[in-house]
Amino acid sequence: MQMKVILSAAVSLDGYLDDLSPNRLKLSSDEDWAEVKKLRGRCDAILVGAGTVRKDNPSLVIRDEGIRSARIAAGMDPDIVKVVVSRSGDLDPDSKFFTEGGGRKIVFTCRPVATELKHAADIVVSPQITAASICAELSSRGYRSLMVEGGSTVLTMFLTEGVVDEFRLAVAPFFVGQAGAPRLVGEGAFMWNKDNRMVTAGVERQGDMTVIHLIPRKMDEDRKYMRMAVEASRLCVPSPTCYCVGAVVVTGSGDIYKGYTHETGQANHAEEEAIAKALAAGADLAGATIYSTMEPCSTRSSKPRSCSRIIMDYGFGRVVYALREPACFVSCEGDGMLRRAGIAVDVMDEFGPEVVEINSHLLG
Ligand SMILES: NC(=O)c1ccc[n+]([C@@H]2O[C@H](COP(=O)([O-])OP(=O)(O)OC[C@H]3O[C@@H](n4cnc5c(N)ncnc54)[C@H](OP(=O)(O)O)[C@@H]3O)[C@@H](O)[C@H]2O)c1
Repeated sequence: MQMKVILSAAVSLDGYLDDLSPNRLKLSSDEDWAEVKKLRGRCDAILVGAGTVRKDNPSLVIRDEGIRSARIAAGMDPDIVKVVVSRSGDLDPDSKFFTEGGGRKIVFTCRPVATELKHAADIVVSPQITAASICAELSSRGYRSLMVEGGSTVLTMFLTEGVVDEFRLAVAPFFVGQAGAPRLVGEGAFMWNKDNRMVTAGVERQGDMTVIHLIPRKMDEDRKYMRMAVEASRLCVPSPTCYCVGAVVVTGSGDIYKGYTHETGQANHAEEEAIAKALAAGADLAGATIYSTMEPCSTRSSKPRSCSRIIMDYGFGRVVYALREPACFVSCEGDGMLRRAGIAVDVMDEFGPEVVEINSHLLG
């Protein structure tokens, strides 16, 4: 079972998670805080580092009755599972992490811990703890979604290992200005760097906070899904009136829907075929990614909506395509239309020659 990992953090304008005072720094607005609580409500488990438990003494409990009821209605436990990682095992069993909330508590640690802590939580001892090993253990216990709330060391671990599916970053409009205060992340070889940028899937305001929703682009995954789209396009019967295109929809929860040109109807484009399957399955397409072997169309004579329009209407967060639509039939403006709508667009040129070869009946 694949686990979905959502990172969530609030920072000051100068990138600090906290200041140097002994008290927890309030970065979030009330509106932002309400959204964070809702996001917690959608996750099976929440993780923080021992540094955060020692410094902030957070309870990490879901108290809102509406959120608890929604969890029960969705077949989830009303209480979130709380996870803490501590190399030293130096954790106070009287801290709120252990004493508050009815959900299971789990400690990942490298050393044997005190008996009191063993009574307060499940203890997982391992000589080396990584983000991947935490997720593997939680996944083996049947948990499907994990919210990682920091602090700095823990965020660095998940981001350098590349164990992230979504990153919610809330920016508060003030400066901390104290060197030595914890920053968002520490030093590290980050998977997302100047050569592999994250994708900005959305930006919103929550009170005076600016919330950025980032999708960590993973090149190996992009290649895997574009390969699927290319193979789907090979199932299309070549015709003088259309390109052979394949498309793959990947939802936020990792569900995959494939389609190819004319798969179920003579006027259907590949994107429409894949999206129709996702909708038939009840998938949530908000923020989803669609891979297409060709630039999504911007005008249609046979239908009221173009593929680009449909992608925008369903709230897709990202479009990845391999080949710009050649000017055989129309002058396609899908790329620009999608970008202007705020959708992240990436072009995987490396697949272009193969798409041309599959369409040799038109592009010979
Ligand atoms: N603004 C926000 O959104 C936000 C959210 C959370 C926290 N924070 C702030 O972040 C600060 C804490 O950050 P931090 O970096 O000091 O602490 P942290 O990331 O919360 O915890 C670090 C600790 O976790 C344990 N740990 C981390 N990686 C490990 C690994 N691979 N294996 C074993 N143990 C590991 C170690 O515990 P041991 O020391 O026990 O060995 C380490 O010292 C606080 O000031 C807090 O207020 C801010």
